[in-house]
Amino acid sequence: MIKIAPSILSADFANLERDVKAVEMAGADYIHFDVMDGQFVPNISFGLPVLSSLRQKTDMVLDVHLMIDRPENFVEAFVAAGADIVTFHVEATNHVHRVLQQIKAAGAKAGVVLNPHTPLSAIEHVLEDVDMVLLMTVNPGFGGQAFIPGVMKKLKQLAALKAEQNLSFEIEIDGGVNAETAKLCIENGANVLVAGSAIYNTPDYAEAITSIRNAAHV
Ligand code: DX5
Ligand code: ZN
Repeated sequence: MIKIAPSILSADFANLERDVKAVEMAGADYIHFDVMDGQFVPNISFGLPVLSSLRQKTDMVLDVHLMIDRPENFVEAFVAAGADIVTFHVEATNHVHRVLQQIKAAGAKAGVVLNPHTPLSAIEHVLEDVDMVLLMTVNPGFGGQAFIPGVMKKLKQLAALKAEQNLSFEIEIDGGVNAETAKLCIENGANVLVAGSAIYNTPDYAEAITSIRNAAHV
């Protein structure tokens, strides 16, 4: 089954509770929470206090995507603040395996994220340790950017490795996902699709979510 994770980066931050409930009602599976530090990426979004507040308001799975340098310094705090899944960029730390263990020891699911240019070899030796692999299909930092189709080759290779090794991690795609690009992602082996602008910038969230989820059937 394909899961849809609306990114609240495209929500109205002054009405976050309302905008989270709205996508929950519209059939979302996860809430994707984009943390940006102004260092790893050229933008600043929101962080720990916002996550704790949101945790009080929803039981949905909070899928926290850390776009921050040195995630090792913050992962426990994000789990304590209510993250169910924590993903971090392998480009942002020298200690990928250790950070995965930190997240799991703190009690959350753990995943790694690759920028569009980062090869799969960067995570080849931790595939058995991850609950999720997130492949970026834009350069992280902003919502509303264009999907980079070249990443589909990497997605296909990742799905093949997963099958070969009989592993069960989720494969998530983030950036420029809409009903059209979702079809490519699903056909190449993704099972979780993040979408920000393609959901929040439309009037009917349920229709947007359904059209992305069912993209492969049209
Ligand atoms: C980009 C973020 C994404 C972003 C996606 O740096 O990680 O999650 O919100 O937005 P769209 O779906 O508009 O590309
Ligand atoms: Zn994201």
